[in-house]
Amino acid sequence: MKSGGKNPSKELYNALRRLPWEQLWGEEVARFNRATAQERISRVAVIRAVGVVFSESGPEEQRPEVQQWLVGLLQDPAEKIRRYAMTALPKIGVEKSGEAELLALLNTTTAERETKFLGRTLDKIGGVATLKALERGLLPQTEQKVKASLARAQSPSTVRMDGVLADFAGLRIHLRGRKGLEQIVKQEVEANPTTRRKFRVVEIGSGLVVLQPIASFCLGDIYALRCFGTVGFVLGTVHATQSVESIACVIASPLSHRIFKIFTEGVIRYRLNFVAKGHQRGAVRAIANRAYTLCPEILNDARNAPWSVEIHPTGRGNSVELSPRLSPDPRFSYRQADVPAASHPPLAACMARLAGKREGEIVWDPFCGSGLELVERALLGGVRSVLGTDLSPEAIGISKRNFAAANLSVATAQFNCCDFRDAVDDLGLNSVTLIVTNPPMGRRVPIADLRGLIADLFDVAAKTLKPGGRLVFANPLPVGGCPAALKLESRQVVDFGGFNSRLEFYRKLPR
Ligand SMILES: C[S@@+](CC[C@H](N)C(=O)[O-])C[C@H]1O[C@@H](n2cnc3c(N)ncnc32)[C@H](O)[C@@H]1O
Repeated sequence: MKSGGKNPSKELYNALRRLPWEQLWGEEVARFNRATAQERISRVAVIRAVGVVFSESGPEEQRPEVQQWLVGLLQDPAEKIRRYAMTALPKIGVEKSGEAELLALLNTTTAERETKFLGRTLDKIGGVATLKALERGLLPQTEQKVKASLARAQSPSTVRMDGVLADFAGLRIHLRGRKGLEQIVKQEVEANPTTRRKFRVVEIGSGLVVLQPIASFCLGDIYALRCFGTVGFVLGTVHATQSVESIACVIASPLSHRIFKIFTEGVIRYRLNFVAKGHQRGAVRAIANRAYTLCPEILNDARNAPWSVEIHPTGRGNSVELSPRLSPDPRFSYRQADVPAASHPPLAACMARLAGKREGEIVWDPFCGSGLELVERALLGGVRSVLGTDLSPEAIGISKRNFAAANLSVATAQFNCCDFRDAVDDLGLNSVTLIVTNPPMGRRVPIADLRGLIADLFDVAAKTLKPGGRLVFANPLPVGGCPAALKLESRQVVDFGGFNSRLEFYRKLPR
């Protein structure tokens, strides 16, 4: 194989990386092994290609042989060859002996660059031996990463819902959600007997409701609320220009440590995320290393961490917030499956709350999809029967499953695969007390006549609702054109995930 072009090493790598594994190992590696020291340097790309091609298509039984070859190269007299070998090793994996070789090299090398590359490899594959060898604080980043991966392997830490935070003075809690729903979130906090006793709403911003605790609380108290999207404990606000040191100090602060400790089962691990700013890898690394030096009990770990430290830009600087990463969200664990255009679950909860609770409710969702609005309304209580209709048989199957998984005490629950217009005859006139729905918006799947569809929705609502009955729906059209029998009582513009729609509340007038 010949190399050429502007960057021969890169071109050689690109050619080698496309070879079938057998040819790469059988011919190119053999040729590399026979080559002179000088030729080996010019063909060092073989090592990189071995790492990549083996990880994609190498046969499992050959793994020990490939590992051995790479570990052997760690003793090559050429620093470049050793460096390529240590970079390829994590792709193949290493046994204890490989880890020992890397650590021995770390002890003997005097090259700064080699120490850096050894650190990167040990970040990925280091274990107990690495941790022991690193006790002298040679590579703090590696120390943190290895501690985190050992902790992850031994016992996955989780967020504790029942740990009680009694020392809460001055703490602010940010409930974040879709813009336009703030008042519904506030109303839920103030209506719930527990949250009303434990928190006060002190501020409302765009997509944000700020709480202050007024009594001891646990995370379970907050997760009894269904209308917010995410929750964050404000650890501090730092000026945008003082980022690394100030953010690290906030993460390692006594307040942060206390919250982490009370609400975590197991080793404290968090990922760091700059909201609306992309990956920021350099900043993340610098902050995480500094925070670890300040408080070695709190580990930065991007993989399956139970917490996320989120940096939110605000008019006052960067708000540093600690958020539990609960996936799936335990509040919506009834969701067994999804449809492509499913509602954002907290939005469905907001729609149910906006609709309000009436005893003996008869609810219809004409476009039920996965059934979230029906479940959320039934969870508020007082529902006698629900009907979901949808054109899609898959959606009907899914809403049946989700509704059953929610384990609700509703006398009748029916899900029919049909056009919503065809349900009117079955339902009968003046039969329904609430229609709550999120109709197709024509965004993902184009709708031939969206205006006609919304007009028909108004029409069937006017027919099927009992006098005093309510229609709550997300209207994709700016102006209504609703029948005289329906009176608009409220309208709010809500972010539907990148586009705005109007959440509208109509009441059918008495005859
Ligand atoms: C925005 S999705 C509803 C999502 C639902 N709220 C959920 O949480 O999964 C709209 C649904 O309307 C259904 N649909 C569209 N046209 C319909 C029609 N004419 N009659 C009944 N259902 C229809 C689609 O199949 C889709 O499942």
